[in-house]
Amino acid sequence: MGKYALILAAGEGTRMKSKTPKVLHQVCGKEMVNHVIDVMRKSSFKEVNVIVGKGKDQVMEKTSSRDVSFSLQEEQLGTGHAVLCAKDFLKDKEGIVAIFTGDAPLIRSETVIELLKVHETGENSATLLTSIIEEPSGYGRVKRVGESVEKIVEHKDCTEDELLIKEINAGMYLFDVKELMFALDDLKNDNVQGEYYLTDVIEIMKQKNLKVGASITDFDETRGVNSRVQLAEAEAILQKRINTYHMNEGVTLIAPGSTYIGADVIIGNDTIIYPNNQIEGNTIIGSNVMIHSNSRIVDSIIKDGVSISSSVILQSEVGEESTVGPFAYIRPDSIIGKQVKIGDFVEIKKSIIGDGTKVSHLTYIGDAEVGKKVNFGCGTVVVNYDGKNKFKTIVKDHAFIGCNTNLVSPVTIHEGAFTAAGSTITDDVPQGGLGISRSRQVNKEGWVQKRKDSGKY
Ligand code: UD1
Ligand code: CA
Repeated sequence: MGKYALILAAGEGTRMKSKTPKVLHQVCGKEMVNHVIDVMRKSSFKEVNVIVGKGKDQVMEKTSSRDVSFSLQEEQLGTGHAVLCAKDFLKDKEGIVAIFTGDAPLIRSETVIELLKVHETGENSATLLTSIIEEPSGYGRVKRVGESVEKIVEHKDCTEDELLIKEINAGMYLFDVKELMFALDDLKNDNVQGEYYLTDVIEIMKQKNLKVGASITDFDETRGVNSRVQLAEAEAILQKRINTYHMNEGVTLIAPGSTYIGADVIIGNDTIIYPNNQIEGNTIIGSNVMIHSNSRIVDSIIKDGVSISSSVILQSEVGEESTVGPFAYIRPDSIIGKQVKIGDFVEIKKSIIGDGTKVSHLTYIGDAEVGKKVNFGCGTVVVNYDGKNKFKTIVKDHAFIGCNTNLVSPVTIHEGAFTAAGSTITDDVPQGGLGISRSRQVNKEGWVQKRKDSGKY
């Protein structure tokens, strides 16, 4: 018996007023639909099919890295119709299919696993997730007779009495694949919206005397996002959940309310994060790391004991006990070694910087390979671009680059070599040598007095 997941993501999300399909809006740095896909996988639903329609190219592109298959719903005739569009995916399958909406990103895998338990132990044909809220407006209502679920009524189809029901349908269900397929055949669109509602399947199954169960969970997990206001609410809830998790794992957050940590970020214990920081994507941060205010770190690996201050680090790696900033910019594909100093107003791009090297101030290093214990004087520029092509500079171990040096690529500074301050280096400097390229200073004795005497000034 297999376990499959369908994710409904074909709707436009008109209320978002956006060119981007609703399910691609991000919560804590990750698209809503990808949150749902990841939760399904974590809950042991390995084979995932995403139903796409509106903005399908964008949705397919943004979810493709997650190894999912797709079904196409050309016209959005309702959630039941959407599931019918996945007929090819479901045919010949036996077991359980989870159907979740792509616009409810707060669901946790623990809750899905709990739902699965209820479904399996109850030997149900359908099990739905519900929650109870004071303001149920807009949601489908769960109508029970005694304990047992009889049907779901959409808000727009509710009678006055049904509007008072506070138990809402989360839009998250488990079904027996075969029974679902049979029930879908009986679906009609005789409702206010003229849509084929997936929710009607519940009543159809009950009429066939099949077992339908329900599990009630916290509303915060089942919130659907239909507007920007609800998107911000979801963001706040998930941010709090993520930050609480990290604090419980031994990370100090000085001001959790202004600390933005992406859903997939990993952080070691005894790391301290100051206010106003943003850590995104697949970033991994080690232990004993200090992240001072106003830093942004994206898809990077920060090793133990690193200290970062007011800096931006993108798709790069920073080795143990190195310091970065204030005001440094480390651009993609840079690998910074151990105990390196990247100081103020330094930009590193696609470069390797060896252990113990110091790049203390006002320097640009691009497309370079720098060895160990190299010292860069203030204001060094690697001139890596001739307007058309980029070239590589190599600086070997223990080299000393004088202040205000231009290293015109391609060029190699060999081991232990020096460059004189103010030099524009266009040729390789040999091991242990000094590269100097500037005109000699000339002093003109008495020049100032002569200038005055000329009477012109
Ligand atoms: C749906 C439920 C409602 C539930 C609520 C929970 C139905 C009929 N109603 O209402 O009971 O309380 O979710 O959030 O199911 N979609 C498609 N194709 C379509 C229509 C929708 O793929 O033809 C997708 C949308 O992209 C979205 C999801 O299904 O991800 C839900 O659609 P939406 O229109 O937001 O349904 P609700 O009105 O919120
Ligand atoms: Ca919705």
